[in-house]
Amino acid sequence: MTDRPRVFVFRKVPFSDRIAEILGPVADLTFHETEDPPPEAMVRAALPEVAALLPTALDPVTAAMMGAAPRLKVVGNYGVGYNNVDVAAATRRRIPVTNTPGVLTEATADTTWALIMAVTRRTLEADAFVRAGKFDGWRASLFPGMELAGRTLGIIGLGSIGQAVARRGLGFGMRVAYAGRRRAAPEVEAALQARFAPLEGLLGQADILSLHCPLSAETRHLLDARRLALMKPTAYLINTARGPVVEERALVEALRAGRIAGAALDVYEDEPRLAPGLAELHNVVLFPHIGSSTLEAREGMARLVAENIRAALAGRRPLNIVNPEAWRA
Ligand code: DGY
Repeated sequence: MTDRPRVFVFRKVPFSDRIAEILGPVADLTFHETEDPPPEAMVRAALPEVAALLPTALDPVTAAMMGAAPRLKVVGNYGVGYNNVDVAAATRRRIPVTNTPGVLTEATADTTWALIMAVTRRTLEADAFVRAGKFDGWRASLFPGMELAGRTLGIIGLGSIGQAVARRGLGFGMRVAYAGRRRAAPEVEAALQARFAPLEGLLGQADILSLHCPLSAETRHLLDARRLALMKPTAYLINTARGPVVEERALVEALRAGRIAGAALDVYEDEPRLAPGLAELHNVVLFPHIGSSTLEAREGMARLVAENIRAALAGRRPLNIVNPEAWRA
């Protein structure tokens, strides 16, 4: 047993060596050595001694866990979304919570566009058709899709990822409209030629509706049956944010009934489980939560999460603190 702070890393992640390189000189690290969530008993055993927790954005960090960790100084979340952490409880205990924004913005915007292209041009169906040996010659009727130029790209949440998605939309000749808790800065609106709209107005205008808001009590089931019914029947829903922003069973119903044209999802309400019937639909594209999965983003996330923890352990303000009010200067 040493006096060095202990850091508990919930899962093996790419570039774990970067984490060890940055934190190793200042702390003792316990790594859960697989990519699966750690067994509860392992977390419980680590809590009494830990100074830092390093969960992925899919590992819950609860008030009870923080209560059992009297030496805890920081929760360094590996991911930009931090709905897995009870931030209010952390703030009450004056424990800073950090995340990894910026480094995964472009990767997530690229994934969003991969989904948009896949669902509007039916690329996965077309690929499966060829692989199944069904391609017996060119036909003008094969897999008609929807053209994007001149259409409206509706974005819910014009933060950095939403903006990166919108920038790409301009390149496709789309018009950008957005809804969100607050209006973007005038220079952001001007650069993206983005029009602010009330949420329900946006739903009726968007040809592609892409979600980029965080998950919170306010955004849980933001797209429920009633709001899905406000979308155009020709519109597509894209979700690379968090699954529970969409009421997934209502989405399955809307897709089945043709109330919207299609959906492309990277995240699910009860991940990794899918709502009954979702996987049987032809007008959906389903990715396994790979929004930020580029080597560049993963390297950046490993570096940033470790740097944030190292700063907090040294008593310096971490770069990416989500609850600044918890910071004891
Ligand atoms: C994030 O960063 O929030 C991703 O969804 C998980 O890595």
